[in-house]
Amino acid sequence: MEILVHRQLASHLQPHPRDEAALGFGDIYTDHVFKLDYYDGAWRNPRIEPFGPLLLSPAAMVLHYSQTIFEGLKCYRHPDGRLALFRPRDNFTRFNSSASRMAIPNLDEAFLLQALKELLKIDGDWTPAHPGSSLYIRPTVIATEAHLGVRPAKEYLFFIIMGPVGPYYPGGFAPIKIYVENFYSRSAPGGLGAIKAGASYAGSLLATELAAQKGYTQLLWLDSVSHKLVEEVGSMNMFFVLDGTIVTAPLTGTILPGVTRACVLAVARDLGLRAEERPLTIEEILAAQKSGALGESFGSGTAAVISPVGKLCYQNEEIVIGDGGVGPITQKIYDELVGVQYGTRPDIRGWVEFVS
Ligand SMILES: Cc1ncc(COP(=O)(O)O)c(C=O)c1O
Repeated sequence: MEILVHRQLASHLQPHPRDEAALGFGDIYTDHVFKLDYYDGAWRNPRIEPFGPLLLSPAAMVLHYSQTIFEGLKCYRHPDGRLALFRPRDNFTRFNSSASRMAIPNLDEAFLLQALKELLKIDGDWTPAHPGSSLYIRPTVIATEAHLGVRPAKEYLFFIIMGPVGPYYPGGFAPIKIYVENFYSRSAPGGLGAIKAGASYAGSLLATELAAQKGYTQLLWLDSVSHKLVEEVGSMNMFFVLDGTIVTAPLTGTILPGVTRACVLAVARDLGLRAEERPLTIEEILAAQKSGALGESFGSGTAAVISPVGKLCYQNEEIVIGDGGVGPITQKIYDELVGVQYGTRPDIRGWVEFVS
């Protein structure tokens, strides 16, 4: 499908990062951005423009009431040089469910995927080839209408920005330490936990900062009602291997339905492993650690892919998971997922979508 996109190309192109092995996460952007406006009841004006600052009214509703949503997906460079998006349709479907929950008008998912491919035709050569690196893609909507009464905006801007990234955590695949948060809450039943709303992330910053000051990379959120059920980590879904069975929290509306989470469950089942989506309490995890049943734990997410968890701290007590290193199940799932993403293993599940 060819779509009509007005193109205004940058007159000055930025140099690409010289050392792909040294890429961090989220500081470098490609030369162009895809944009759409919403006004008078429809999305309009698809265009590709040079990357640059936005012009916004100080009364833009996003600045006051946080009516904004986003997605995060990746494009990988395969050994033959082709550019491969990983499950992009799932991200655009989730984008629309985020939009619905935030009273933002839905967008045409097929059109968005085509628009992304158009942007990649121009800026796709920013996709790094170094193992562990990729092009991170961030579709976003913000409420741009200048208005101070509290109601859904009537004007929005949709944009896609992209940038080459390396590992999300500076330690790469090294096991991380996680702090179990039992005071602050990330989401509540009926709240925003199942969508990617900027507001959820804003609400998580203080607790995450406090945990970082204690030396922990991330927080493990518990449910906001009983403070006993394990939910998810800042930007990852969580998995625990109990007596050889992979267990993760169910999708009951308070955690994000991660695309990588769905991949982990599919890969685990394909590998003949038992995988369960069920409520899991922090006490069950602590008891399993004491009895030796807790073999491994890892987080899953687009940014970090699979991140082994070596230690958990709950109520000032630190426990070591397994031997504190990378467990065999974590490694197997990581190898399969990363192999498919980078094109070194066959894509038997139809997750890869080539750009052209
Ligand atoms: C809160 C939260 N949970 C889980 C995830 C993992 O989701 P996905 O695998 O779709 O990236 C993310 C990242 O998108 C996240 O921000």
